[in-house]
Amino acid sequence: MVPLKRRKVVSSGAGSAGSDDVTSPTRFPQVVLFLLERKMGASRRAFLSQLGGKNGFQVEELCSERVTHVICENNSGEEVRRWLESQVGSPAHLLDVSWFTESMRAGRPVEILDRHKLQEQQINEVEVEAFSTPSYACQRRTTLDNHNAVLTDALSLLAENAELSDEDGRGVAFRRAAAVLKSLPEPVTGLTQLRGLPCLGGHSLRVIKDVLENGASSEVEATKQSERFNALKVLTGIFGVGVKTAERWIRERIVGLQQLQDSEQTLNRAQQAGLRHYEDLNQPVTRAEADAVAAVVEEAVASVLPGARVTLIGGFRRGKLTGHDVDFLITHPEEGREAGLMPKVVSWLDSQGFLLYQKTSRNSYLEAEDGPGRPSSNMDRFERCFSVFKLPEEARRGAEEARRGAEETEPCSSSPAAVSQVKGEGLKPWRAVRVDLVVSPISQFAFALLGWTGSKLFERELRRWAGHEKAMSLSSHALYDNRQSRYLRASSEEEIFAHLGLEFIPPSERNA
Ligand code: UTP
Ligand code: MN
Repeated sequence: MVPLKRRKVVSSGAGSAGSDDVTSPTRFPQVVLFLLERKMGASRRAFLSQLGGKNGFQVEELCSERVTHVICENNSGEEVRRWLESQVGSPAHLLDVSWFTESMRAGRPVEILDRHKLQEQQINEVEVEAFSTPSYACQRRTTLDNHNAVLTDALSLLAENAELSDEDGRGVAFRRAAAVLKSLPEPVTGLTQLRGLPCLGGHSLRVIKDVLENGASSEVEATKQSERFNALKVLTGIFGVGVKTAERWIRERIVGLQQLQDSEQTLNRAQQAGLRHYEDLNQPVTRAEADAVAAVVEEAVASVLPGARVTLIGGFRRGKLTGHDVDFLITHPEEGREAGLMPKVVSWLDSQGFLLYQKTSRNSYLEAEDGPGRPSSNMDRFERCFSVFKLPEEARRGAEEARRGAEETEPCSSSPAAVSQVKGEGLKPWRAVRVDLVVSPISQFAFALLGWTGSKLFERELRRWAGHEKAMSLSSHALYDNRQSRYLRASSEEEIFAHLGLEFIPPSERNA
């Protein structure tokens, strides 16, 4: 427990708020109040003291033997009593602020009821036990077990809206606030628990308060109804369409897929594929589907460069059950052997009929505008392939059965493909899946693995930590120490965390 502040004891009425000239003369000589500042806060205490004085109560600035009523907010009886005994040893009434506010309303000291008395271990106290957490997401362990999904969903929606409105700063602020709540061990029940938590700005706190008090945030509800937000979501949901393009279309009154199809807009190859496979690509990819894609990619890599290694990265490496795409990192244990690997992998995949679309790039900075609208700070220079896979139903089903066998879970009858078939949307024997392939030389593998495992906020926070706290620059290629003017080598993620002076956080706990 935080030790209570000790105050000097005076036994006179000197300094009492009652002597202030805005106050009425003392009307209740038998009642002498003292308001405990701890947890109430100095400004609220000053306000309540003045209010008491105006209503003719004597309010002491310092605690003394004259005090008959000690008014507290969010303190337990036990802690206040211990403090009081060390101060004056007087058995004054230990009262909750509710007695004070009721007395103010009544204009006289109201009768002390049980509910006014401080509980020995105030029940409230357990509930309002404040959380505490380090301020960088990369210092925290964030599993997928989110106890505050209602709050984080609200904040994430506002983050998404900010990002779709080109207000990235605001977006990051909401993302950081959501990440703090995701890392808490229990559901938040009251605002007081959030005192002292990092990254919770006024705007985020207002949203949280709204949800806690009313079950929903008016701003979130309004955003969900907003035509612009919904149009931006639908249009940027097309693979290959970024915010800028979506905004231009909205200005031209194109707010939906049908309108886009009917319009004269020229679409690039990525956008054409995005529109053609819109429904599939907006259907979450399951873990079993990711396994099926992994088997195909492994076969492709093994046949063009035996000995090369394929690693599942992105959300699935963090243990997510679904994703918007499947990400792979490919390397070879001998430095240099990976050179030229991507075109070979791609042409193998293409020759086997697995690719509906692909775009391979050496330098992804050039892709910033055409790509799926990622911030350029996330871009790196790896050989990379954005693709849309054609995943045969057979392969998908096989992987699902294998996974089910391994997990011994109940059969699940409503996989996305099954659903679309039931709905009569054509019995197509495959589904489209977004797949990202990245090739890195073994010397950069650990950095690439760390950089591509995510979450995006975790990565952002790692880079912020490196820059602000360690004077280092971290990318998916390397770690540079600005003070020593040299690169710090690493062959595992653990070494990178150690260079950064951070405790190692495994992928499953990077879900910030
Ligand atoms: P994703 O966008 O695939 O996110 O990026 P995800 O965590 O896997 O989640 P879903 O389920 O697919 O939506 C994966 C990681 O790759 C990094 C991102 O920062 C993220 O950490 N990344 C992505 C880059 O470093 N550069 C890029 O150009 C894209
Ligand atoms: Mn992903």
